[in-house]
Amino acid sequence: MNIKLRRRKFLQFLGYSALISKAPCTTVIADTKETIIKGISHSSKDELVLAKGLTYDVVIKWPDHINDNQQFGSNNDYIAFIPENNNSGLLWVNHESFLPLFVSGNERTKQNIDIERKQVGGSILRIKREGRHWAFVHDNGVNKRIDATTKIPFSLDASIKNSKVSEGTLANCAGGVTPWKTFLSCEENYHAFYGDYDAKTDTHIKSVFKWEGFYPNPVEHYGWVVEIDPHTHITKKHVTLGRFAHESATCVLSESGNTVVYSGDDKIGECLYKFIANKPNTLESGTLYVADTVNGNWLALDIEQNEILRKQFKDQIDVYVHARYAAALVGGTPLDRPEDIKINPITGDIFITLTNNVRRGNFHGEILKLKEKNRNYESLEFTTETFLTGGRDGFSSPDNLLFDQRGNLWFCTDVSGKAMHKPPYSEFKNNGLFVVPASGKQAGEVIQLASAPTDAELTGLCFDPKQKTLFLSVQHPGEQTRDLEYPTSHWPNKDRLPASAVVQIYGPMLESITQV
Ligand code: FEO
Ligand code: CA
Ligand code: CA
Ligand code: CA
Repeated sequence: MNIKLRRRKFLQFLGYSALISKAPCTTVIADTKETIIKGISHSSKDELVLAKGLTYDVVIKWPDHINDNQQFGSNNDYIAFIPENNNSGLLWVNHESFLPLFVSGNERTKQNIDIERKQVGGSILRIKREGRHWAFVHDNGVNKRIDATTKIPFSLDASIKNSKVSEGTLANCAGGVTPWKTFLSCEENYHAFYGDYDAKTDTHIKSVFKWEGFYPNPVEHYGWVVEIDPHTHITKKHVTLGRFAHESATCVLSESGNTVVYSGDDKIGECLYKFIANKPNTLESGTLYVADTVNGNWLALDIEQNEILRKQFKDQIDVYVHARYAAALVGGTPLDRPEDIKINPITGDIFITLTNNVRRGNFHGEILKLKEKNRNYESLEFTTETFLTGGRDGFSSPDNLLFDQRGNLWFCTDVSGKAMHKPPYSEFKNNGLFVVPASGKQAGEVIQLASAPTDAELTGLCFDPKQKTLFLSVQHPGEQTRDLEYPTSHWPNKDRLPASAVVQIYGPMLESITQV
């Protein structure tokens, strides 16, 4: 598609049809800049390759000490920033998983599993401004690890499998920040740790890491969204948001002031959800809905409203525990791995990555746009359309999203390490970071700004408050390593074993894109 045609389509998509006939350099948002962004090509290098005008530093990496007693966990993923003042802030960083070969050993011994239980969860970190950039602060009072051994109660005082408290959090992939400035961390592929029970098919699923051999924790204690207060360190698992492979817990305030949380279930054929709270400053009261994207309706997973649910489940908590099954019963639409969800600050529209679905031949996924009726986040009706198509638009398998203040869309890709560099993924090479300008001559173009080291995923996109620094997780470089003598990546440790890390990216190119 030529640039003019792409721009026309993009403006139509944004709803700026009145501007289509104007000169190509017309800006559609109240800005005066016209920056030409020169991207990079797909790369196979074992480096974090950046476009000209961008620089990076490692802020923290596995297994740095975050305080006198605790270490930064493995495979850092989602990052959120809550400012304390102009010169300091708190980061939440998820730790999704680990490679046993790097952290413990492939043998399934209690000793190895005890090490692994410290690798997942998340880190609360203080950072401070140093010159124009940010530096990690070793702080015993604030910095804290939450991991798979932390006792975390369920909200609503709910008792799940005879316990009101779960042991730890794990599989922490994406997340969110509440309007009252607490962190949300999503338990995604929880089945890899203690296994799972699938109520839809009445099947037991074995875990990958086999922790259940030494810690027979109920599988129903995982697959939730965890809220973390960064100041008190109080944590809870939010029963009302349902239990599934949570990807993102994106919060927005509706016009009436209620908190609405969007979340995806990253499994082939699973659904998109939203929760509408009905009390201020809490997620403990409200209704969970699943998306019927065929008819454009949000369907309540509410036992009071639905006879099918009343027949199948004993109470509302039972519905939440088996949210996937409940979603299927009421007519939720199976999707191609719904992952991250972000809201365009200019248009208010909701963007959702559908990463891929290899089972039905959708290898490269798409980015979907969802428009709530009357732009009301509490609406129970919506429309959807494809915004970008993986493969055709120069990328494959989109995962994490972020909008900047000018409405430019930033996103990262996650082709799995096993599939990368093999057909049909060969041409895309390593995973990348891309930007889609909202305005100017390049509006609607997909421009690659970074390429990940070998086997890594770029994830956790997060701006500092001035949007002059982009924090990014470089996750699992060298993940395909099978022999410690021959790691597939050394990043960022030169000739030693690789490590996941949080980096900060900055420079004139970044500011020319983000600054108004
Ligand atoms: Fe952990 Fe679905 O990415
Ligand atoms: Ca993800
Ligand atoms: Ca992913
Ligand atoms: Ca990941």
